Amino acid sequence: MTPSHPQDAAPASPAPAAHPAKSSYYERHIFFCLNQRSNGEACCADHHAQEAFERCKSQVKAAGLAGPGQVRVNKAGCLDRCAGGPVAVVYPEAVWYTYIDAHDIDEIVESHLKNGQVVERLLTPAHLGR
Ligand code: FES
Repeated sequence: MTPSHPQDAAPASPAPAAHPAKSSYYERHIFFCLNQRSNGEACCADHHAQEAFERCKSQVKAAGLAGPGQVRVNKAGCLDRCAGGPVAVVYPEAVWYTYIDAHDIDEIVESHLKNGQVVERLLTPAHLGR
């Protein structure tokens, strides 16, 4: 049979994939809760979250990891895991960390953000929410 329209002769386009390949603008994205509460309730800002955020940003930049295709460090409001605070979460793995000091931040940068290895000792206990 002869096609009546040019598009009839075109090869069939492949069916869309059930889960089309995604490309992520950043390889990893870390969010630091910087929430400050004035009512006396626990909040990450009371545990040096701003300093940790700035430390992470500077370490990522110093390591040459910052930018598209690599790592992005962002501020966040309350992530609703205040009881585990101060917290930061890394995507796409959705790994939650509770850090204490600059050494912890440096380890997250070197191990997870640079090399993809989760820092088990800093994982936020799964049961800790708000
Ligand atoms: S104040 Fe940081 S998670 Fe809620």
